[in-house]
Amino acid sequence: MEDMKKAVLDGFEKAYGTKDGVKAYFAAGRVNLIGEHTDYNAGHVFPCALTIGTYGAAKKRDDNKMRFISLNYEGSSVVETSLNDLTPSDEAGWTNYPKGVVWAFEKRGFKLPCGFDMAIYGNIPAGSGLSSSASLEVLTGFILRDLFGFDVTNQDLALIGQYSENNYNGCNCGIMDQFAVAMGKENNAIFLDTADLSFEYAPIRLEGCKIVITNTNKKHKLTDSQYNARRSSCELALSELQKVIDIKGLGELSIEEFEAHKDAIPDEDRRRKAKHAVYENQRTIEAVAALKAGDLNKFGELMNASHVSLRDDYDVTGEELDTLAEEAWKIPGVIGSRMTGGGFGGCTVSIVKDEAIDTFKEQVGKAYKEKIGYDCTFYTVEIGGGPAVL
Ligand code: GLA
Repeated sequence: MEDMKKAVLDGFEKAYGTKDGVKAYFAAGRVNLIGEHTDYNAGHVFPCALTIGTYGAAKKRDDNKMRFISLNYEGSSVVETSLNDLTPSDEAGWTNYPKGVVWAFEKRGFKLPCGFDMAIYGNIPAGSGLSSSASLEVLTGFILRDLFGFDVTNQDLALIGQYSENNYNGCNCGIMDQFAVAMGKENNAIFLDTADLSFEYAPIRLEGCKIVITNTNKKHKLTDSQYNARRSSCELALSELQKVIDIKGLGELSIEEFEAHKDAIPDEDRRRKAKHAVYENQRTIEAVAALKAGDLNKFGELMNASHVSLRDDYDVTGEELDTLAEEAWKIPGVIGSRMTGGGFGGCTVSIVKDEAIDTFKEQVGKAYKEKIGYDCTFYTVEIGGGPAVL
């Protein structure tokens, strides 16, 4: 943490020639333990913030300019824009994320009185599906609140981040990622009902086990992927079900209710997508209850069932994620393993007994390389807290 803080402050000074009055900030990445593709279906999710994330350094300016630099790309230079130019563009690249947040604040009536300079430096692996974009959005919102004194809560920062991602950056994501980053609490996961944003923290005490994330290292981008298409399928399935049952979201349905009414969805493929949303929501509720009751094995079984449903019904896994999960299931000492995040690439999350971690890495790593042709990467992670001034 101290190293990253120093690096981002040094990077700021090098890029902008001053360190006076510059502050350092942090916002986490996230991993979702269970409840996948339920957050845009009025269902439950169970993510946690991580100790890896995005570091930022920032300072207000006297004019309307906004300048950004990322220290993650070697030799990268300062990108300069202005408050008068808040339209997304291909040339703006990653700076569309902080610009989108500025734009979203203005849409809420929070106009920036002047511009700012910002440097960022992250340690979330690129393209890993551990929410580097939500981390950057919440970081930016947190910085703007700190610099300009905007009266917004952390939950607002999540909503502003999601709004900018949906309407400025073109990914129709749900609220899970931004919420996990903005509301994170050390050693706790967040049991969030996305229907009304009610939530509770659930302490994660994994005695004798760790959370291991495995990166497929497959290149993917959510906006390019079929994420938005999945969301549309669910919306259509919902409108079909609404002809026979009075619901506002798929997350309102019990398994029995879904089974009784599913024929209202004529298309078989779409019916399977809706089935996943309903079953996964119920699985998430059950998994959190199991965890509270101290039944980690049950929690692990439900993680595995979640992967199967994402593979067979929701069709968002692919050979890389399936290989990682299926190889993990073979290893004694693996409590549970599943894909996490949007899918199509990115990472799996596994709960592994301490004594099995070496075998897990060795066997899964070897099988993956043999089948896929390149290496996967392992990270043993800790659950981190919400955004902070450092
Ligand atoms: C991505 C989205 C989230 C959520 C997950 C799937 O991470 O950003 O809103 O929909 O996929 O659970």
